[in-house]
Amino acid sequence: SASQRVFSGVQPTGNLHLGNYLGAIKRFVELQEGYDCIYCVVDMHAITVWQDPVELKKSIREVAAAFLAAGVDGSKQIVFNQSQVPQHAELAWVLNCVARLGWLNRMTQFKEKAGKDRENASVGLYAYPNLMAADILVYRATHVPVGEDQKQHLELARDIAQKFNNDFATSIAANGLPEKFFPQPQPLIAGPATRVMSLRDGAKKMSKSDPSDASRINLTDSADQIANKIRRAKTDPLPLPESLDGLKERPEADNLIGIYAALADTDAQGVIDEFGGGQFSQFKQALVDLTVAKLGPINAEMTRLVADPGHIDRVLGDGAARAEAIAAETMTAVKDIVGF
Ligand code: ADP
Ligand code: NA
Repeated sequence: SASQRVFSGVQPTGNLHLGNYLGAIKRFVELQEGYDCIYCVVDMHAITVWQDPVELKKSIREVAAAFLAAGVDGSKQIVFNQSQVPQHAELAWVLNCVARLGWLNRMTQFKEKAGKDRENASVGLYAYPNLMAADILVYRATHVPVGEDQKQHLELARDIAQKFNNDFATSIAANGLPEKFFPQPQPLIAGPATRVMSLRDGAKKMSKSDPSDASRINLTDSADQIANKIRRAKTDPLPLPESLDGLKERPEADNLIGIYAALADTDAQGVIDEFGGGQFSQFKQALVDLTVAKLGPINAEMTRLVADPGHIDRVLGDGAARAEAIAAETMTAVKDIVGF
C-alpha cells in the first residue's frame, strides 16, 4: 500500500561491488514482497564529483541492469533514472531553504569526500544530502534500505521533513493537507554486511569511490577474480572464533564472516556454528564458492541486459513516467504549502 513505500538509490559512478549488493541491492529484491518499491539510479548525485559523460551514460544502464539482474521486477516496482524526473531537483531547492548550514556542516561523508581541498569541492557535493532528502520525500516514502554509511544522511532527511512540517504547519492545515505532510522516513539498516569493509584494510569501507582498492569484489568479476581476491583477503593468523565474542578486535575476520552470513541468508552466529575453530584457508574456499554461486548468475544476467540498451531504456522510461506521476502530485502540494 502507499502508506508503506520504499525508496532507495545507487549512484552510477563505476563498478558496482559486493558492498552495494549486500548493503542495498539484495535488500531491494527482498523488500518487493511487502512494499511498493521505487529504485532509482541517482545520476544527479553522481555528478557532485566529476564524471566522464560517456562513462556516466554507460554506468546508468549498468546500475539499472544490476537492479533487474539481481531480481527487481521493473514491471511491478518502479526503476528509473533520477534526472528524468524533474521534481527531484525542484523539491531539492525548497529543501535547501529548509535545511540549516549547521546541519550540513556535521555531515561526515562530505568531509571524507571533499578531503583536504574542501574549498575546491562542488557546492553540489555539500548539498548532496538535501537532494537525497528530496529523493525520498518527493515520494513520501516511509522506508529506506541503505548501508550504514547513509545513516547520517537519513537522519538529516528526517530532520528536514520535521522542520518543513513545523515551519509550514499553518499553511499545511489551511490547504487541507495532513499535519505530517512529509512522513519520517525510516532507515532499514539491519542484518550482517550493512557495512562491508575493504578486503585489504579492515578499517576502510569497500567503495566505488576508491579506485586504488584492487581488492574490491565487483559484480562484474569473473569466478577467478573473485577467488583471487578472497584468497588474498587480509586476515589475522588465528582460526575462526568459537563464539561471537571472539570476533571483537578482529575486523577482518568479522568482515569475512559478515559477508558469508549475508550471502547465505544467516547471521554471524550461524557461520560460527558451521566454521568456528576452523582455519581461514578452508573458510575462504567456502566463501569463494558461495560468492561465485551468488554473484555469477547476476553477472551473467547483467551482461545479457547491457547488450540490449533499448530494453533498459524502455524500463527506465516507463519507470520515470510512473515515478513522475507520484512526484508531480507531491510538488503541486508543496507549491501550495510554500505559497508559490
Ligand atoms: P559507493 O559508496 O560505493 O559509491 P553508493 O553511494 O552509490 O556507493 O551507495 C549505494 C548503496 O550501497 C547505498 O545504500 C550504500 O549505503 C550502499 N553501500 C555502499 N558501500 C557499501 C558497503 N561497503 N557496505 C554496505 N553497503 C554499502
Ligand atoms: Na555511499
